[in-house]
Parts: sequence; C-alpha cells; structure tokens
Amino acid sequence: MSFPPSRIFAIVIGLLVAAVVILLLRVVFDFPPASTGASKPEGGPSRTVIGGPFTLVDHNGKTVTERDFAGRSMLIYFGFTYCPDVCPNTLTVMGEALNKLGDKAASVVPILVTVDPERDTAEHLKEYVRHFHPRLVALTGTTDQVADVSRKYRVYYAKVRPEGAGEQEYLMDHTSIIYLMGPDGQFRTHFSHGIDADGMVRRLKDHL
Ligand code: NI
Repeated sequence: MSFPPSRIFAIVIGLLVAAVVILLLRVVFDFPPASTGASKPEGGPSRTVIGGPFTLVDHNGKTVTERDFAGRSMLIYFGFTYCPDVCPNTLTVMGEALNKLGDKAASVVPILVTVDPERDTAEHLKEYVRHFHPRLVALTGTTDQVADVSRKYRVYYAKVRPEGAGEQEYLMDHTSIIYLMGPDGQFRTHFSHGIDADGMVRRLKDHL
C-alpha cells in the first residue's frame, strides 16, 4: 500500500497541527489536569496545608503548644495590638460571634497570635485581650517562633514604617483571615476580612 507524496505531506501536517493544539491545551487549560499526587477537599485549601505544631507564650507568660488546645476548636487570628482598626474590628466580631453562638461557644477558643512580638509582650497582651472577650487567648513568642507559626498558617506580615516615624512607631502589614481549626487541630474553614458576627455564627454552626 502506498500513498501519493501529497497525501503523506497532508498527514504529517495534520499530525503536527494536532500536536500543537494538544500542547496549547495543556499549557492554557492544564488539560488533561496534571496529577498532583494528593487530592484536596473541594472549595478550600488542603487540610494538611494550614496549621501545625507551634510553641508560643500566652498572655499570662505560660509556654503553650497546639497540644494545649487539643479537643477544642481554635478560632485563630494573626494581628498586633498597635493595629489601628483592622485587628480591633476583627477581634470585636470574633467576640460578638462567640457571645451569639450559645452553648457551642464553650468548645471554641478564640486566639490572637501577634505578628509583632517585639512590642506585643505577654504583659502588653494581657491588658489588650480583656477588651474583646473574657476567654480570648493572646500568644506571642520569639521572632522565630512567630515566624514559624505564621508560615504554617500561611500568614504574611511585614513591618511598615511611615516616613519620619520613630524606631518603635511602625505598623505591621499582615494577612487578615480568621481560621477555624477543629478539635483534631486540622483546618476546617476560614473567615475572610469583613465578615460580620451573624455571618460568622451561621458558618460556625455548620462546623461545630
Ligand atoms: Ni491589623
């Protein structure tokens, strides 16, 4: 069986076009999807990606780890006490949500992890937490300990010093997300910046 040269040429061109189209599909649409090896739950980051072990110091000066919160859910937020608005607003919403949650609130520990351990000492945090919720736990540590827990929770932060400001007059640019971690220490869900207390209560009830 033999093909005329023009037929062979057409087949070769056709195959080339098909190869280019498949390559483009792979590049543009990631098609077929590349296998990642691990399956992720739909609609959120993988449970294994956010959170993990930490060693920090609470606002009473006691060293704590994630094991101290095992068996209870953690509502965990990263911020700093010198934050002018975002952090106090978020902590207020967290406190209100827990007050509205009823009996289930007892199984939830609200936690603030400072991203400004230089200024947020345990003594300073102790004065700060009582403005928001009687059970709010504030955690600080060495800069390395804070960097470690922030990395595990995928929290970004950076010092921002306005021009002309003094050495201690900096602000912290930081991620503003509240995480709900389950009694097993695993990520359950997150609440984005701007959620109100009622919205948080509704979503918390789905997960507690
Ligand atoms: Ni803030």
